[in-house]
Amino acid sequence: MTWGNSSSATMISALSAILDIAFAAVSFATVSPPGAVYIDPLQYNVVGANYTDWRNLSTVGFNPTNTAPPFIQVFDPSFLDVIGSSATIRSIASNPGFAFAHEAPIYVPDLNVVFFASNAGGALGYSGWYNNSVVSMINMTEVDMALVSTTGNVNIQVQTVNLPDTVQMVNGGTGPYKGDLLFITSGRALLPPSIVRINPSPPYDTTVLLDNFLGRQFNSLNDIKILPGTEIIFFTDPTYGWMNGFRPEPMLPSQVYRFDPSTGQVRVVADQFVHPNGIAFTADGKGVFITDTGVIGGFLGTNQTLPATIYQFDVDPRTQSFTNRRVFAYSDSGIPDGIQLDTMGNVYSGCGEGVHVWNAEGALIGKFYVNSTAAQMIFTKSGLVILNEEAIYLANIQAQGLDLTTS
Ligand SMILES: *[C@@H]1O[C@H](CO)[C@@H](O)[C@H](O)[C@H]1NC(C)=O
Ligand SMILES: *[C@@H]1O[C@H](CO)[C@@H](O)[C@H](O)[C@H]1NC(C)=O
Ligand SMILES: *[C@@H]1O[C@H](CO)[C@@H](O)[C@H](O)[C@H]1NC(C)=O
Ligand SMILES: *[C@@H]1O[C@H](CO)[C@@H](O)[C@H](O)[C@H]1NC(C)=O
Ligand SMILES: *[C@@H]1O[C@H](CO)[C@@H](O)[C@H](O)[C@H]1NC(C)=O
Ligand SMILES: *[C@@H]1O[C@H](CO)[C@@H](O)[C@H](O)[C@H]1NC(C)=O
Repeated sequence: MTWGNSSSATMISALSAILDIAFAAVSFATVSPPGAVYIDPLQYNVVGANYTDWRNLSTVGFNPTNTAPPFIQVFDPSFLDVIGSSATIRSIASNPGFAFAHEAPIYVPDLNVVFFASNAGGALGYSGWYNNSVVSMINMTEVDMALVSTTGNVNIQVQTVNLPDTVQMVNGGTGPYKGDLLFITSGRALLPPSIVRINPSPPYDTTVLLDNFLGRQFNSLNDIKILPGTEIIFFTDPTYGWMNGFRPEPMLPSQVYRFDPSTGQVRVVADQFVHPNGIAFTADGKGVFITDTGVIGGFLGTNQTLPATIYQFDVDPRTQSFTNRRVFAYSDSGIPDGIQLDTMGNVYSGCGEGVHVWNAEGALIGKFYVNSTAAQMIFTKSGLVILNEEAIYLANIQAQGLDLTTS
């Protein structure tokens, strides 16, 4: 290539880039929901040595427009098709001082309620070696009724779900699984981590499906999903129980397991993580995402040279082991914790300042910016429910979540 050709090609491509940006800005203005903010990545590629807003701490969010949270950030105009033209994000429940809404959201469509758990072992969770965490539910019919009467936030009373002592430190959930909630627990003190099935109506009949690996306790089980089209359970086991002071020293690697409840077989399908955390399959069951929250180390503190990374794998058709590991995305803020997919293949993960959304090709297309940790989220008939520790948000977006029901 000669310089002459190159510079005219550069000029043309620069011109077309300018036109693209102008077009994106115009279409953004005409179809974007009120309050959404367009962050054109091209505007932030070069900030210069005199820039003063360096984000030295990964826990500080990226909010270059200084917009008041909560709001929706759009990094690619295609995100407008995900959220729709009238999306809003509003707080639907809050309890400052208690991290009541951490993880394990399960939406039960028949009841139109979301179950979820409080923070196990972390800040403002009031749980630990001696104290269990709390499972609660929020009634989305009550949320819908309250939201129509105001354009602002609402505060719907969440209800505590009283569960038997076999359920200790719920941290993950999926379902409905044959009509039941499927929770995964981290265990507490010498009480073993487990997978439990719970009827979603009182008196919440509970069955423990698994609480050991051939006689060895798991470390502190974290998150769980069913391989689509099967009844087979996959789950992650990091060491956060020990690192957050409510479990003894780990005695197994931090890895991902497969459990077939029909045969009782349990085996490892992936390892080599710092802290394997969230899990989500693609709709066809041929692919899977595992988040690695290595950055957050409990009593070891934060180490920004470790992963805050979503890994993508293929599910081996014969063994269902996870193969062809590759990086899908690294989160610029906090850690990618819980993870869910929508029906278009977009990937949502709960990060340091809210929920980040990448398209199936791995491009960051948008964020639901709440300005503090959102560990997990779940799609409902009313929209995307975002668990934000001391608050719950609802983003009434157009995208639909993958159906997580196992019949
Ligand atoms: C940075 O600020 C210094 C001091 O004000 C100034 O001399 C310099 O030109 C600035 N550099 C850039 C790249 O703007
Ligand atoms: C962040 O990093 C920049 C660049 O290295 C440095 O000038 C600044 O003092 C740091 N700020 C904090 C709060 O550490
Ligand atoms: C455990 O629970 C009790 C009663 O709710 C509470 O007073 C105490 O502060 C909790 N302990 C911790 C370590 O959070
Ligand atoms: C949810 O709220 C609606 C409206 O108050 C009520 O009819 C329904 O029974 C509630 N559902 C549950 C599971 O509590
Ligand atoms: C951070 O993690 C890296 C990689 O494991 C390790 O080499 C380094 O010592 C850690 N830094 C701190 C301050 O713990
Ligand atoms: C966002 O969170 C940071 C702490 O990470 C805080 O300093 C800042 O005030 C918050 N911004 C708003 C507008 O609440």
